[in-house]
Amino acid sequence: MTIPTILAEKLTVALKGVLGDSLPEGFQATVSPSQDLRFGDYQSNAAMVLAKQCKTNPRALAQQLVDTVGKDEMCSLEIAGPGFINFRISPDFYASTLLSILDDDRLGVNLTEQSKTIVIDFSAPNVAKPMHVGHIRSTIIGDALSRIARFVGHNVITDNHIGDWGTQFGMILWGWKNILDQEALAANPIDELLRVYKDVNIMCKEQEGLLDTCKVELVKLQAGDPENLAIWKQCVDVSKSGLSKIYEQLDIKFDFWLGESFYNDALAPLVDDMIAKGLAQESDGAICVFSDHSVPPQEDPFLVQENGEWRNNPCIIRKADGGFLYATTDLATLDYRIKEWQADSIWYVVGAPQALHFRQIFSAQRRRGSDGDFRHIAFGSILGEDRRPFKTRSGDTVSLQDVLDEAIERAAKVVAEKNPEMPEAEQSEVARIVGIGAVKFAELSQNRMTDYVFSWDKMLALQGDTAPYLQNSYVRVRSIFRKLDGQDIDWTQALELNEDAEINIVRLLARYSEVVPMVLDDCRPNVLASYLFDLAKAFHSFYEACPVLKSEGKVRHSRLAICEATARVLKHGMGLLGIQLPDKM
Ligand code: ARG
Repeated sequence: MTIPTILAEKLTVALKGVLGDSLPEGFQATVSPSQDLRFGDYQSNAAMVLAKQCKTNPRALAQQLVDTVGKDEMCSLEIAGPGFINFRISPDFYASTLLSILDDDRLGVNLTEQSKTIVIDFSAPNVAKPMHVGHIRSTIIGDALSRIARFVGHNVITDNHIGDWGTQFGMILWGWKNILDQEALAANPIDELLRVYKDVNIMCKEQEGLLDTCKVELVKLQAGDPENLAIWKQCVDVSKSGLSKIYEQLDIKFDFWLGESFYNDALAPLVDDMIAKGLAQESDGAICVFSDHSVPPQEDPFLVQENGEWRNNPCIIRKADGGFLYATTDLATLDYRIKEWQADSIWYVVGAPQALHFRQIFSAQRRRGSDGDFRHIAFGSILGEDRRPFKTRSGDTVSLQDVLDEAIERAAKVVAEKNPEMPEAEQSEVARIVGIGAVKFAELSQNRMTDYVFSWDKMLALQGDTAPYLQNSYVRVRSIFRKLDGQDIDWTQALELNEDAEINIVRLLARYSEVVPMVLDDCRPNVLASYLFDLAKAFHSFYEACPVLKSEGKVRHSRLAICEATARVLKHGMGLLGIQLPDKM
């Protein structure tokens, strides 16, 4: 149990004693960490909330509660302001919490009591189009959320819903047949496919009729033409193997790769079924889902306001020419995940511009009878240092591979400067860990909804809210143990905490068990990232204030225990964010 849950329980029991039958049924006191440590470690406003409901004086009620709970080995209580109850945790209790963290592989984090099957849809780049920075955000955030949800005890299924059946294949097929460079394809298939796609795009603008020729290729593909299908399959295969390399470098795995094409056969029956059930109607030859007016217009994804009037904003699921759309595929995908995987919850880690799409398909799916918890986990954009959308110098979208390569290259310079004696192979491994970690942490330390500025200097700095700072903190802790030359330490011996700096860091270590589950409340990995940054800072203050190896006896042992627990929490927490820590750097 976490400290605030224990405190909340104590308080609820006391409330029952003090208020008896006037305590509202099922009332649970809540306890949260104090913002200001002068007022203790945790606080509760339960007396204020209840005094209002029971029409008594909040301070008097708080006093009765404090008297009832009394002081014990765990904590002492005080009243503050209009009726806040403050809890101060005793150093002995923190010392025993530290012991239990050292004795627990889960570092105090409980398994959830409500384990669910959660499908997480993230990354999902498009074949033959570059995996750009928007996909970077999805990939890194989605992976971190998957790791955290799994650790907390959910049954997580990760699915890379790649765009392997878009209209882009019209141009790619024509390009493959007419302008493909076989040698370049063999050397770097992803780049060559991309070049073909870009060049055909330009050619279509210049040559009249070419766009229609490309469309013919697309229609042939959709009709199952064997030659076009074979080319399509080859494109998908080379793209997948290129993507796999990037994911490997990022240390990211998917349970499934069910791309859009996987659902092709399900689309026609799905549309027919929706028409038969009256959930979709024909309009100008297309089949659309319209508003059912079950929610106020402001909340209705099938209506938009125009010149003060609400007009229809339907979701098209079959075009007049018979073609299916992104939305049709997503509805079929929902069916599959619910039926085959028994998903309780489905999370889509996709940029904010697709918000309307998800509101529409979630709403349509509910009308089709599904009551799952569907979430669009949106995020903002990445900006260049000029605060405009992040682009390469030539104005192209930045590819993820280029970002990773540059990150590793820049990290290599930092590593080589700091450790000229380190053998080259080790240097390059550390550079990989630091470079990739820097890109991931820069992403995960942001509130996902804000646009953030991509800055190499900032993300690779050894000071501040960065992966290298956290990695360096870990290395510092590890180096303390290296000086002990592998002496085995018995982490079950009793501990004592005396100094403020010791108590401050143990308070944070104990909070790991609160912070990890909190990330999932609103799917915000930055809550964990900022906790880890605070922990690293607290470690540096502790290390400055409290000599470790130069101290003696129980004090020395307790300080070593703080170091050990800090190293474990840093390593574990960064691991949940998908970031590795080197032993030296
Ligand atoms: N391929 C899409 C894109 O790049 C993202 C797909 C997200 N997942 C989904 N089920 N719609 O924009």
